[in-house]
Amino acid sequence: MTARLNERVTNDPITRHRELCTLINQYRWEYYVLDAAPIPDIDFDLLMRELESIEADHPKLVTLDSPTQQVGPPADTSFEAVQHPSVMLSLDNAFSEDEVRAWYLRASTLAGEEVLRDSGFMCEMKIDGVAVDLVYVDGVLTRAATRGDGRTGEDVTANARTISDIPYQLKGSVQGTVEIRGEIFLTLAGFEELNRIIEEEEKAKKSPKKPKVFANPRNAAAGSLRLKDPKVTASRGLSFLCHGIGVSDVTLPSLEEAYAALASWGLPTSDRARKVADLEGILGYIEELGQVRHDLSHEIDGAVIKVDAIPVQKEMGFSTRAPRWAIAYKFPPVEVTTTLLDIRVGVGRTGRVTPYAVMEPVKVAGSTVEMATLHNSSEVVRKGVLIGDTVILRKAGDVIPEVLGPVEHLRTGTEVAFVMPTECPECGAPLAAAKTGDVDLRCPNRRSCPAQLKERIVYLASRQGLDIEGLGEKAVDAILTAGLLTDEGDLFTLDAQALIQVPLFQRINAKTKEAVLSKNGEKLLEELQVAKTKGFDRYLVALGIRHVGKGVAPLVTAEYGDIDSLEAASKEDLSQIPGIGPIVAESISSWFTVDWHQVIVEKWKAAGAMSGVQTPTQDLSQTLTGLTIVVTGNVPGYTRDGAHEAVVARGGKSTGSVSKNTDLVVAGDGAGSKLDKAVTLGIQVVDASRFQRLLDEGIKGFAEEA
Ligand code: IVH
Repeated sequence: MTARLNERVTNDPITRHRELCTLINQYRWEYYVLDAAPIPDIDFDLLMRELESIEADHPKLVTLDSPTQQVGPPADTSFEAVQHPSVMLSLDNAFSEDEVRAWYLRASTLAGEEVLRDSGFMCEMKIDGVAVDLVYVDGVLTRAATRGDGRTGEDVTANARTISDIPYQLKGSVQGTVEIRGEIFLTLAGFEELNRIIEEEEKAKKSPKKPKVFANPRNAAAGSLRLKDPKVTASRGLSFLCHGIGVSDVTLPSLEEAYAALASWGLPTSDRARKVADLEGILGYIEELGQVRHDLSHEIDGAVIKVDAIPVQKEMGFSTRAPRWAIAYKFPPVEVTTTLLDIRVGVGRTGRVTPYAVMEPVKVAGSTVEMATLHNSSEVVRKGVLIGDTVILRKAGDVIPEVLGPVEHLRTGTEVAFVMPTECPECGAPLAAAKTGDVDLRCPNRRSCPAQLKERIVYLASRQGLDIEGLGEKAVDAILTAGLLTDEGDLFTLDAQALIQVPLFQRINAKTKEAVLSKNGEKLLEELQVAKTKGFDRYLVALGIRHVGKGVAPLVTAEYGDIDSLEAASKEDLSQIPGIGPIVAESISSWFTVDWHQVIVEKWKAAGAMSGVQTPTQDLSQTLTGLTIVVTGNVPGYTRDGAHEAVVARGGKSTGSVSKNTDLVVAGDGAGSKLDKAVTLGIQVVDASRFQRLLDEGIKGFAEEA
């Protein structure tokens, strides 16, 4: 709970002034943001009056942040980018006891076994939440920020202040700056309750939409922390636990002592953190935690082991990705069983037909799963699953759920084999592989297959394309169902007369009882007009040419600023563009050879789109020229192709496998053998959270740190 300073504890005007400012700001915060009534109004007024009288006697104390200088509630959440006082790193992972042993050996070699024995190890839960950095100055919370790329995070102070576990004022006298690290999370009960409320609210609105419940407690915590309105954050019941310190003006010789100090200051520390002496103790802790992990009130995905003595930590230092003095042990993936109700097939934007499993919904690793991709028909055969089978489903934390195979002894004889359709389930076209030997089947009806057309339109309207907000899945579905478009070329022919035929965009005029265009319909027409004026680089993305996304498009349009000059360029011309290789050049060049692609271009031109538009100048500095880079695992904010394109757009070469010619590996969550190979070959590894920095600044800063 937050500290209270009701009692007058000093006669010194400067100290009392500071106390009053802190106290009144806290009360105002609770009043305006938390809708609470922390003290009776009369007491609040008395405190204000006392503050005014001190300021009247000592005008120099009137600072901008004094409550006497502020009117109304505190400012809204801004999420400005802020620099952390010290870098927030990630953790290296160990996926087995052997890997923990290997880390212990490495640490002993580095620091000396004796030194480590003297230090001991702090063992903690690895909480599955959102890391935050809290900066306390003279005991007052001055800033809370998300981890971001480790150097720069988002300012979430306004929202963090609504979390009751995060004190605004520390207890005791904590002088100077202390940076506290920890995890914001939702308890399992809090998560269930939040989703229940979301579902009820949607029901009450009689909305036909499936309620947008959160997939897991971590997403719910992250979403709740980044809400525009701190009052809503306050209602989400977020929790917080400390797991480290950054810069500190208070000397803290060990983690054990640091946690004791934090607890005495009123900060929440874990009662499951335990100091152990050696490897045996570490493995014992992991074993015990594994046994209780499902009985805890919140989710954890492993244990974190840290060298306890802070001077030893400093000696051991960091690799680019993580401290050498800590390791995260990740629990093995969770496996559950469920019933495979059906295997259906989906058709993607490029016509690829993918079977996917539809299962009895089942809770696994914190989220409810009911679908999982089966990739292609050979995979279905390889896994040996039949419709009706009890199947084993695996999921590790955030990782995509995977059907492992059937539980054969539970078969009843009623199970049936999946038969891959020979015709497109959406348009009936005969399916075929794009080329001999391909395992994937595709729908060849590229132009008009409703599934492909829908995905293409959703893609062209997405943020990286023409950014047409009103043209999401639902709207596109409704427009296509009404039969208003032959292909995306017709998009700009949509007018009020056409849209009015779509039930989604109709409104019945109360007086005349006639169907008129709804507000959403009007908005969509306006957005379409605006989209016509967008730069050619966005149109190039919107065309959906393979390998040409938001990273590559500006490079191309910098050389060929309109569709005609681009079409006239040969493959050879295109591969002369800095950052464009032969694969992208070939892809662009062959796109123009397809007749219906030409039709779309002509239709858009005729509608006044894509013509005479100045390409915005994009200055993508070529920070990665000459570097061969492998991106592996999940890079936040990027798809696999997007990350590849981003590297290419900065002049780098992006390859799929690690070899001695690789200069750098970008490793995100789920990085596996490629990361291992990079480590064995001694290739520099950059954590995925720092990918943007790598793109912006190149390798220089990273080389200095290594
Ligand atoms: S220590 C430099 N301790 O795990 C040390 N992190 O995978 C960095 N986490 O970003 C963090 N529980 O958000 C630490 N007991 C714990 C933790 C913990 C959860 C998160 C944290 C970090 C991520 C790394």
